[in-house]
Amino acid sequence: MDKHKTFGKKQYLVLFIVAALILSAFTGCTTQKQIETESTNNKSTTEPLTTSETVPTTEKGSVIVIYFSRTGHTKPLAEYIKDELEADIFEIEAKIPYTDDDIKYYTDCRADREQKDPSARPEIAGDLPDLSKYDTIYIGYPIWHGQAPKIIYTFLESVNVSGKTLIPFCTSASSPVGSSAENLHPLAQNAVWKDGTRFAIGTSREEIKEWLNSMNTQCELKLYIGENELSVNWMNNSSVEALKELAKGGITIQMSMYGGFEQVGPLNATLPTDDKQTTTDYGDIVLYSGNQIVIFYGSNSWSYTRLGHINLSRYEMIDLLSNGDVNITLRCE
Ligand SMILES: Cc1cc2nc3c(=O)[nH]c(=O)nc-3n(C[C@H](O)[C@H](O)[C@H](O)COP(=O)(O)O)c2cc1C
Repeated sequence: MDKHKTFGKKQYLVLFIVAALILSAFTGCTTQKQIETESTNNKSTTEPLTTSETVPTTEKGSVIVIYFSRTGHTKPLAEYIKDELEADIFEIEAKIPYTDDDIKYYTDCRADREQKDPSARPEIAGDLPDLSKYDTIYIGYPIWHGQAPKIIYTFLESVNVSGKTLIPFCTSASSPVGSSAENLHPLAQNAVWKDGTRFAIGTSREEIKEWLNSMNTQCELKLYIGENELSVNWMNNSSVEALKELAKGGITIQMSMYGGFEQVGPLNATLPTDDKQTTTDYGDIVLYSGNQIVIFYGSNSWSYTRLGHINLSRYEMIDLLSNGDVNITLRCE
């Protein structure tokens, strides 16, 4: 009995020691983990970041704002867009930074010379962001002699933005957006370009918010041939605006092949026209006589109002349209 009692005390002692050891091991682990976390946090805030690391990579970000801003007027607008849309952001910086003398315009400064030179492509500093996960790219720049700075051209020629929606915005002393945004289209032909918008220097966060809201309420005109939605760059004109209204509930048009270069169909409505003698090419969409829509897979010269351009190759257009009459659907949603 006594022996049994003594054995029991020893057992309790061993159990106590084991329990104490386990407890201390757990406490030690927790402390170690906290230190690792702290040191990781310290690392991310104190170590210098490389250019590619400065591009945030939020999982939800299908929108990125990319901008160039030499004197800091475009930058806050880019930041407002980023904040409002919870987007990512990337600043384009020149490898050889623009000094104050470089941007004294009308003095034959570096910026003046670059803007005059069609082949000028100033190098960009650091790595460019990986755009593969983004659907929408806001691209901001200052107006330099009526156009986007040539570094924007460098950027667009260096990335693949095929199928992505590009929304240009700019600031200027007084010039409108003019042709600055449209002149970027050839650099990214397979992107879906939205109209460019110019903002005055000092535009407020509230104004940017209103602009973003107004874009959301505007419908997007979509073109389907059969089941396939096609990527189209629509013109910014009153004919397209009227077409958007017409297409709000969706309209289907029976097209007919004509002349071995086009398909034409009735809109059953008359739209505003701005007819000009035009030589069309494959992919062009035009308005004929104000009430017919024509899509080309070849070329013709006539008096038309341009509506847009389908981002497909000549062979893809021929394949789509030269094998018999098609139905097209236009829907603004
Ligand atoms: C080289 C150069 C050319 C410019 N050309 C024009 C112009 O044609 N029209 C205009 O209104 N402003 C012009 N500006 C003024 C800028 O567009 C304006 O200050 C812009 O907001 C600058 O943006 P940032 O501070 O983001 O660089 C020019 C500025 C520079 C440096």
